[in-house]
Amino acid sequence: MDVYEAVRSRRAVRGFTDQPVSREVLERVLSAAAWSPSGSNLQPWNTYVVTGAPLAELKKLAVERVAAGDPWDEREYEMYPPGMKSPYRERRAAFGRERYASLGIAREDWEARQRAAIANWDCFGAPAALFCYIDRDLGPAQWADTGMYLQTVMLLLRAEALHSCPQMAWSQVRKTVAQVLSPPDGLILFCGMSIGHEDPTVGYTRTGRAPLDETVKFIDGFGSRSSETGY
Ligand SMILES: Cc1cc2nc3c(=O)[nH]c(=O)nc-3n(C[C@H](O)[C@H](O)[C@H](O)COP(=O)(O)O)c2cc1C
Repeated sequence: MDVYEAVRSRRAVRGFTDQPVSREVLERVLSAAAWSPSGSNLQPWNTYVVTGAPLAELKKLAVERVAAGDPWDEREYEMYPPGMKSPYRERRAAFGRERYASLGIAREDWEARQRAAIANWDCFGAPAALFCYIDRDLGPAQWADTGMYLQTVMLLLRAEALHSCPQMAWSQVRKTVAQVLSPPDGLILFCGMSIGHEDPTVGYTRTGRAPLDETVKFIDGFGSRSSETGY
């Protein structure tokens, strides 16, 4: 698969079939993703791959816990800053609107939104997941390295005809994850990632993106991209 095609076809898939994903494929993807760049080649990612009975156990523990209304584990990092400013606030609101509209859920229907959210901890039905940890002594640059690594994993999964959904939601129940994975104390759970074959019967709305000139400035004499391409 061409890289553009991998980028275009990757999206956060939230409905998977139970078709298993082989260890061989996951090892191939993760071995290739290990070539992701990182400052001074620190390779700060610590990845746990979970399938089969341990994943079933983790899903069960997490879903039961969340369904029972247990409070989240205390945060080890802020998923979003409080009082987010423009344009992030508007982008987040637009995402929420799109997401719940695609599920046919009214914004004020809190219970239906909760039910949809709980699917996170069932990995949206996926038969495989990974959990990515970062050493708590490392800083923002290493978190960025880890993001690049995770994107590389997601693109390589596309080359294997697999889909994924990165999930910070797992950090909210990080102690349940730790119960099953037993990571060393020095690690912070950044996110989980569901992995598998897309269930084509699950509807979705493709998320949009800000126009290029909102997020990219060309300062090199090429001129405005929009005027060249007619967008
Ligand atoms: C670090 C990270 C964490 C995310 N956490 C969640 C999550 O917990 N649950 C979820 O359903 N989607 C999660 N997403 C998916 C985003 O909502 C999604 O990437 C974004 O809306 C853009 O949509 P797209 O990936 O389908 O293009 C996460 C994405 C990233 C990069």
